[in-house]
Amino acid sequence: MCGIIGYIGKRNPVEILIEGLKKLEYRGYDSAGIALKGNDIEVIKSVGKISNLEDKINNSNIIDSNIGIAHTRWATHGEPTEINAHPHTIGNITLVHNGIIENAKELKEKLQNKGIKFNTSTDTEVVAALIDYYYKGNTKEAIEKAIKELKGSYALAIINKDEDKLYAVRCESPLILGIGEEEYFVTSDIGAILPYTKNYVLLGENEIVTLSKDNYIIEKDDTKVFRKVEISNLSIEDTSLNGYDHYMMKEINEEPILVDNLVKKYINNIDKLPDLKKYKNIHIVGCGSAYYAGMIGKYLFEDDGIKVECDVASEYRYRNIIYDKDTLVILISQSGETADTIAAMRKANDSQVDTLAIVNVESSTIERESTYSVLIEAGKEIAVATTKAFILQVLILSLLSYKINPDDKYKEDIKKLPQQLKVLLDKTGFYKKLADSIYKHEDVFFMGRKVDYAISMEGSLKLKEVSYIHSDSYQAGELKHGTISLVNEGTIVFAIVTDDEIRDKTISNLEEVISRGAKPIYVGNVDVNYEDKIIIPKVHKKLQPILAVPPLQMIAYFVALKRGCDIDKPKNLAKSVTVE
Ligand code: AGP
Repeated sequence: MCGIIGYIGKRNPVEILIEGLKKLEYRGYDSAGIALKGNDIEVIKSVGKISNLEDKINNSNIIDSNIGIAHTRWATHGEPTEINAHPHTIGNITLVHNGIIENAKELKEKLQNKGIKFNTSTDTEVVAALIDYYYKGNTKEAIEKAIKELKGSYALAIINKDEDKLYAVRCESPLILGIGEEEYFVTSDIGAILPYTKNYVLLGENEIVTLSKDNYIIEKDDTKVFRKVEISNLSIEDTSLNGYDHYMMKEINEEPILVDNLVKKYINNIDKLPDLKKYKNIHIVGCGSAYYAGMIGKYLFEDDGIKVECDVASEYRYRNIIYDKDTLVILISQSGETADTIAAMRKANDSQVDTLAIVNVESSTIERESTYSVLIEAGKEIAVATTKAFILQVLILSLLSYKINPDDKYKEDIKKLPQQLKVLLDKTGFYKKLADSIYKHEDVFFMGRKVDYAISMEGSLKLKEVSYIHSDSYQAGELKHGTISLVNEGTIVFAIVTDDEIRDKTISNLEEVISRGAKPIYVGNVDVNYEDKIIIPKVHKKLQPILAVPPLQMIAYFVALKRGCDIDKPKNLAKSVTVE
C-alpha cells in the first residue's frame, strides 16, 4: 500500500514531506519520491529507503518552494525502479497515486494514439497523462473529466507547473485533508501530519479539493461540498517508539492496558455491543490475521448454538452465496481499508443482509459502510505484523459471544486478563531463550484443533511474517494425512493445547511427530513434561486465546531480531492491502 503526503502553506515543505514519509513507512514500500513547486517543478526520486531520498535531496540544490507532494511506492504495476517511482510528470501535471487503475492499459493506448509519449510502465503515469490531456487552462475541470474515465482505486495529490495550487481526489483509497495554521496537508494517514495539526476533513469519493496557501474548496460535479472538520484523538506518542526498539514490541506491550480498557468499557455495559442472538447464520470474513481472529470467533459462536461460516475475504467476495435473510456478515479489519474485505462487505450490503465491522480505524471505509460497527480502540498500530489489534479483535468477538450466553465465571475471569497478560509478557528472557533454539531453523510447524488450530494459524503467520522462516500450521488431525512426511530429526513443531475436550487427541498427534524426530514446543494451560513448554493460565474457554497468542507474538519478535530482519516493515508486506 503506497503512502501519500502533500503540503501547501507558509513553510518550505521538504522537511514536512520527508518526516511525513517516514511516518508512512509502515505501509510498506520499495521506492520514494518528492516533487516541489517553485518557479518550476523539481522531482527527486530514489529506490529503497527514504534515507536514500534524503541523501539525494541534501546533495542537490533544491528550488525554493511552499508546495510539494511526496510518495512511498509499494509496486503494483511496474518494477520497483527509480523511473517507476512517484511522482510522475506529463506536460503540466505532476502527481502521486495510491491505488490501482484497472483500465490503465486501454487508456494508455488511447492516449498513445493521440501522440502522447510515456516513460514508464506504471498506471499512475497514465493518470497524469489523462489529466494533462484534458487540461486547457483549468486543472480542476481536467481532473473532473479524467476521473470519470478511471476504473479502479485512487488517491491522488496533484500539482500543475503553472499554478500555486495543490489538488487532491480519492476513490476507494484513503486520503484525508489536514487543516493547519495558514497551511494545508493531504495524506494517506493522519499519523503523517500529527506534529502539525490534529484537524482533518474526510474526503468523500470523487470530491476534488483545490488548495491554495490561504484556503481550500471541495467540489463534486461542479457543486461545492461542505465537510465537517474532525479532530483526531491520536497523539504524537501513538506514532513514536516511546523507548522501544520496534513498534511491534511497543504494541505487544500495550495489550494489557488496551484489554483492560475494553473490559472496563463493556463487561458491565454489555448492551453497548450488538446482540447477535437474533441471527441464525453468521458469516465471518477477513484477511490474514483478521481471518484467523474470525476463525476463533467461529468456534465461540458455534458453541453458542449459531450456524457460522468463516472465510477469507478474497474467496468470499467471489462465491455464489445464497443469503438467508437472518444472516449477519461480520467484517474484521484493523485498517478498515483492505480491498478484499471491502468487496466482501459490499457484497453483503448489496444482498441486504446486516454487516458488522470490527475495526480499529474510525471513519475507515469498512467502518463507515457497515450496518453496525465496533471499534477495537487499539490506537495506532504501526508495525506491519498486527499484534495488539489481533488480540482486541478476539476480545470483541469473545465479548459478543459472552453477550449471547453470559456466565459469572467469564465475568470473573475477564477481569484478571490484563494482569495475567502482563505477567506473560514480562517473561522476555524465556522467549529470547526459546528464540535462540528456533532462529536457525528454516521450517517450523504449528498444530492445534478447533480454537487451538486458529491460534496456531496466527502463531505461524506471525513467525513467518517477521522472521521469513517457512512456517505452516496444520489441523492436528491432518498431520498424519501428508504433512508428517515433512518432519525430520529436530524439526520444530509448536502444539497449541488449550481446549480440554480435545487435549488428549492433540497430545497424541504431538507424540506422533516426536516419534519421528520432531522437537516439540508445547503451548498449553495444563503443565506437561515436555522440555520446551509455555504454560499459560487456565481461564474461561472464551478468553483462552487471548492468553495463548501473545507468547507466540513475543517468540516471533525475538526470532526475527536474532535473524536481523526488518521487524516493523517486513519485506514485500504492507500494513493494509488496499489493492486486490
Ligand atoms: C497480519 O500481521 C498481516 N499484517 C496481515 O495478514 C493483515 O492481518 C491483513 O492484511 C488484514 O489487514 P486488515 O486487518 O487491516 O484488514
